[in-house]
Amino acid sequence: MRYSIQAAAIGAAMALTGLTACAPPAEQAPHLWQTLTGAPTQVIAHRGANGELPEHTLEAYTLAIEQGADIIEPDLVLTSDGVFVVRHDRYLSDSTDIADHPEFADRRRIVGDREDWWTDDFTLAEIRTLRARQVREGRSTEFDGLYLIPTFEEVLDLAAAHGVATEPEVKSPSQLIAAGLDPLPELVRILRQRGLDTADAPIAIQCFEPDFLARLNGEIDSPLLMLVFQMQELEPGLDPLIPTVALEDMVAFADGVGPYKALLVDEDGQDTGFIARAHALGLFVHPWTFRDDDPVGDGADIETELRRIYDLGADAVFTDFPATAVRVRDAMAAE
Ligand code: G3P
Ligand code: CA
Repeated sequence: MRYSIQAAAIGAAMALTGLTACAPPAEQAPHLWQTLTGAPTQVIAHRGANGELPEHTLEAYTLAIEQGADIIEPDLVLTSDGVFVVRHDRYLSDSTDIADHPEFADRRRIVGDREDWWTDDFTLAEIRTLRARQVREGRSTEFDGLYLIPTFEEVLDLAAAHGVATEPEVKSPSQLIAAGLDPLPELVRILRQRGLDTADAPIAIQCFEPDFLARLNGEIDSPLLMLVFQMQELEPGLDPLIPTVALEDMVAFADGVGPYKALLVDEDGQDTGFIARAHALGLFVHPWTFRDDDPVGDGADIETELRRIYDLGADAVFTDFPATAVRVRDAMAAE
């Protein structure tokens, strides 16, 4: 079995705190978790605790770790000088103050159908002059303009210092390759240099592109997570439960699947059977994204939604609000 990010995260946290595993009190029946390993569902801080602080900043990751997140998630894009920095998008206008930098005004250009500033047109030194901003409407902008855009390696340093795992996502590798920036060699270099290229490393690499994960599978043994969404997003009218990559196809190169949550629980709040099918194939399941301020269609509040997904056996959940996901998980364990 290649997947061990949970064991690694728990083991690292125990080593850091000096804790050792112990049996629960005799009067307390342990909660039966339906995850692939039987371990409690892990909490992944999606872009850090970005419900409270600007996403993809060391400050947002640190807050998530303080709140009890087991895993932190950096999305990765490349600078023009080949350095991985942590952003959700290649473009910079949403998540940074670049529009307030007149020295970069003439760098704005059209890529595809969008006119913007693009990360791979800037050196790391230039990216360092920017500051992060809250992206989602309705959230606090109090911390806008304060925090730097970190590199991937700085996030790995932070995770190692705190004994938590990471789940980096390589964004749009085919676009980067078309722009002359193949992200694979630099990713492999970093993972090997840090000993994170092994099956038991406290890391899982995510991507929406199966070809990239298949290439990566030939280079490293680290756990790999195939991200999928509903095929109907690409081809309207299709069954909403068809994923963009079939579970049976991804087992050749991936250890787990990261599905959009509507593939797991339908619009009436019912189990679709996705988790059980994935587990039967040996795949761990990390659905996205659970948000306190974005209720699901069937009207369930966030606590109900989290309890439902934990009961179904999600191995980990991506959330913008790790404090809530940890609180609900720990309450279930104690019941
Ligand atoms: O990587 C899991 C989830 O984050 C995928 O969605 O768009 O938030 O990166 P996105
Ligand atoms: Ca992501």
